[in-house]
Amino acid sequence: MADKDRLIIFDTTLRDGEQAPGCSMNLQEKLRIARALADLGVDVIEAGFPAASPGDFEAVSAVAKQIKGPIICGLARCNAGDIDAAWKALEHAERKRIHVFVATSAIHRQYKLQMAKEEILKTAVEGVRRARSYCDDVEFSAEDAARTEWEFLKDIVSAVIEAGATTVNIPDTVGYTVPGEFAALIEYLRKEVPGIENVVLSVHCHDDLGMAVANSLAAVKAGARQIECTINGIGERAGNCSLEEVVMAAHTRHKFFGLEIGINTTRLFPTCRLVSSIVAMPIPRNKAIVGDNAFAHEAGIHQHGVLQHAATYEIMRPEDVGVTENSLVLGKHSGRHAFRDRLQTLGFELEEVELNNAFRKFKKLADQKKEIFDADLEAIVLQMDGAEAGPWTLRDMNIVTRFGGSASAEVWLMKSGEEPVNQKADGDGPIDAAFNAIAALTGMDATLTDFEVRSLTVGQDAQGEVAVFMRKGGRDYRGTGVSTDIIEAGTRALVDAVNRIVRSQEIGRPEKSQAAASV
Ligand code: KIV
Ligand code: ZN
Repeated sequence: MADKDRLIIFDTTLRDGEQAPGCSMNLQEKLRIARALADLGVDVIEAGFPAASPGDFEAVSAVAKQIKGPIICGLARCNAGDIDAAWKALEHAERKRIHVFVATSAIHRQYKLQMAKEEILKTAVEGVRRARSYCDDVEFSAEDAARTEWEFLKDIVSAVIEAGATTVNIPDTVGYTVPGEFAALIEYLRKEVPGIENVVLSVHCHDDLGMAVANSLAAVKAGARQIECTINGIGERAGNCSLEEVVMAAHTRHKFFGLEIGINTTRLFPTCRLVSSIVAMPIPRNKAIVGDNAFAHEAGIHQHGVLQHAATYEIMRPEDVGVTENSLVLGKHSGRHAFRDRLQTLGFELEEVELNNAFRKFKKLADQKKEIFDADLEAIVLQMDGAEAGPWTLRDMNIVTRFGGSASAEVWLMKSGEEPVNQKADGDGPIDAAFNAIAALTGMDATLTDFEVRSLTVGQDAQGEVAVFMRKGGRDYRGTGVSTDIIEAGTRALVDAVNRIVRSQEIGRPEKSQAAASV
């Protein structure tokens, strides 16, 4: 029986979020995010789609083994192979959930699945029954529910409840609905489906029309009690409902919604930053809740008001979401304890060996620049993850570029356990030249599609972060590099992207054209 006064926060950053172009993560990165989500207090972590590839299986299984507290959930289509794989991957979880789905809308039935209504219904029921034969906690999703005929959706939802589903999810897969309509759909299901009061009604909204948060909240007002969301709203296309926004709406407007949530809101800002750094997707300055400008007051009249009483123009306090006044933290003389403490505040729990390694890098950086900010610390740890995952490491580079002419690069790379190799190449600019040299050394036939540079912090000696995007086999990959030298950062980013492609092939992630399923 659902707790009527509690709103369940189901995070799918590691599954739907990871489906965003260029957002795929390695195992280490997924574990970092899963730890941060557990600290944040989410109720459910959807850790991945185990049948999609051996790498996805391994990631769900590692999260299931290591993360305690939240329910760990694995996604599966309604077929025996997927469900069995999900159950196996979840084996070691303290609390587990199998999440099965099948598309229900006419357009998906006709063009994607080529199945009639009766077949979809049978598939859904059999999927739920099989999942229930393993697990007491089974969620069913009717993919593209928001565009499904209401009466058919009612039949499906009734049938899966009878088959044993404990949570029923109503996704707006393509971000098509609007708040009034979605609330009416939830009310309709609550009125028409027998036994619906015994399950948790969930919603999963995409943001194609910019209404994912509004639609989710409207559904909650109409009786839904689980929201599926992602950190920073990352996800397929325009993304998913943003966790930090929906949580702060329910928190700030507690009287209106009247629901309890288990989130430690002061962990929102560090978690959003962590995810943003890991997937190299900067948080827009004006992003609600966690953007740089979210608590900045520019107009004199606003500043005056805030000085008199913060609530004149602030509906939340920065500290409620974990924004700290001062992100200038450490310097050359800071010790190991201060370093470890600050990393913990930022959500990084490091093993002794990792900590020593990170501390050495911090000391080296503190020799190069006077002031070390949170973003510098995050970069140290995250770049370490990338470099250690290999297989290629950058040993040296010599890049010459001339005004109005071409650039030439010589790059030295080393593959784990082998001798360093080097290659010279020319290009339109320094990054193009380095890319050509790296492509020749690694035999990588990817296309370089985009290139972004930003300053990590402030000041003339600030480190620059370069993000590069490459495309191979229909998939987008990103790589990041950080350095006080922007050309070195760019070269590191190229090596990181190549490594991600190699590792993705090693863990058996299919090219997009042959992907096991598109969800
Ligand atoms: O958007 C969607 O419909 C999904 C389902 C698998 C829940 O991601
Ligand atoms: Zn989705």
